[in-house]
Amino acid sequence: MGIRGTLKLPGDKSISHRALLFSTFTKGKNLIHNISTGEDVESTRICLLNSGVKSSKKNNSVEILGGKLKDSLTPLNCGNSGTTTRLIAGLLSGQEINATLIGDQSLSSRPMDRIINPLILMGSDIISNNLQLPLTISSSIIKGIEYEIPVASAQVKSCLILAGLGAKTPSHFYEKTPTRDHTEIMLEKMGADIAVENNLITVNPLTKTLNNYEINIPGDPSTAGFFIGATLIIPNSKLIIKNLLLNPSRIGLIKVLQKMNAQIHIIRQWDEIGETVGDIQVSYSQLNSIDLVKDDIPSMVDELPIFALIASQADGITRVTGAEELRVKESDRIKAICTNMKEIGVNIVELKDGFIIEGNSNLKGGHIKTFNDHRIAMTFEIADLLSNEKIIIDNPNCIDISYPEFKETLKKISI
Ligand code: S3P
Repeated sequence: MGIRGTLKLPGDKSISHRALLFSTFTKGKNLIHNISTGEDVESTRICLLNSGVKSSKKNNSVEILGGKLKDSLTPLNCGNSGTTTRLIAGLLSGQEINATLIGDQSLSSRPMDRIINPLILMGSDIISNNLQLPLTISSSIIKGIEYEIPVASAQVKSCLILAGLGAKTPSHFYEKTPTRDHTEIMLEKMGADIAVENNLITVNPLTKTLNNYEINIPGDPSTAGFFIGATLIIPNSKLIIKNLLLNPSRIGLIKVLQKMNAQIHIIRQWDEIGETVGDIQVSYSQLNSIDLVKDDIPSMVDELPIFALIASQADGITRVTGAEELRVKESDRIKAICTNMKEIGVNIVELKDGFIIEGNSNLKGGHIKTFNDHRIAMTFEIADLLSNEKIIIDNPNCIDISYPEFKETLKKISI
């Protein structure tokens, strides 16, 4: 058993959401190719359709027409997607729209105070269910603010930037630890007046419609993480991943794995729509353990589940701290990682903000509780490849949230 082959993955989920949402700042036709195939991104597109946006989709290409949002007659259903909710809340506030945002059970229990508090400071009129969904936004005129973002979150930062573009006065947002910067990159390319200097983002209100775009979205590095992980821990494996997003704020996993002695090489690199893109080659490697701290987390925040599995095969003990944000993702990922790792025979200690995991583990069979979290399901599908006994996943269908083709692709590259 090993992993062999060459892959090209569907477009990055974060950029896909943004490419849809930012069309509302343009007039006329925008084209998005290689859009993420996951349900989350479709949730964003449906919210936009219900807010008066015109869009059609053929295979993995989307045509979307520019124009401001309209009040929605029905609640906007954000499904399982935190990015849809938080970014659209900023957009609606900035465009003076009336709307109610709802979501599934997981999304309805995630914290929204992180966006509600600063949006209210800007003058947005928001009613929530105890700082969670449903969230009702009523049209109001908003102003710019100076605000230090208290959590390292690109969703919060992006929400505020989108609101800031529709405010009456400039805004200044400060983030202590840099997070993914796709919003800033894309809006600057489209002609928005945004300046970033030493973690301080200045947003000037829009005075004109922004440039139209045709973009080819590079492959999702968070999805790639599962295949990179499988290749590193299954003997005899070698994989090439082409056209992968290599934005520095997204390749924390690759950087950390390289420090652990992983054979991961960038074989070609270029720039596309202001984003770094490239082809990489990964080979099975004898890995060492590592310690991760708070500042390491934002650039690999979605990759911690697969990282835990990789660490269970490294030489030595790996410690992850400062990762308390994992408790408020699609599931409580610290609990989900620890419960399921124990189930398959890995020695792991749960911390309030991370975990300590013992390497060189022999994986045994077991029953995995995904908590309906796509990244937990994919992590333990990879564990199943390495274990001699069967690992059974309770709800593999939740993988469709980000990557419906996951199992098919894994089969193609498994020898
Ligand atoms: C995202 C930001 C991250 C990440 C999520 C996508 C984005 O969330 O976990 O999957 O597209 O901005 P936080 O901003 O909550 O860290």
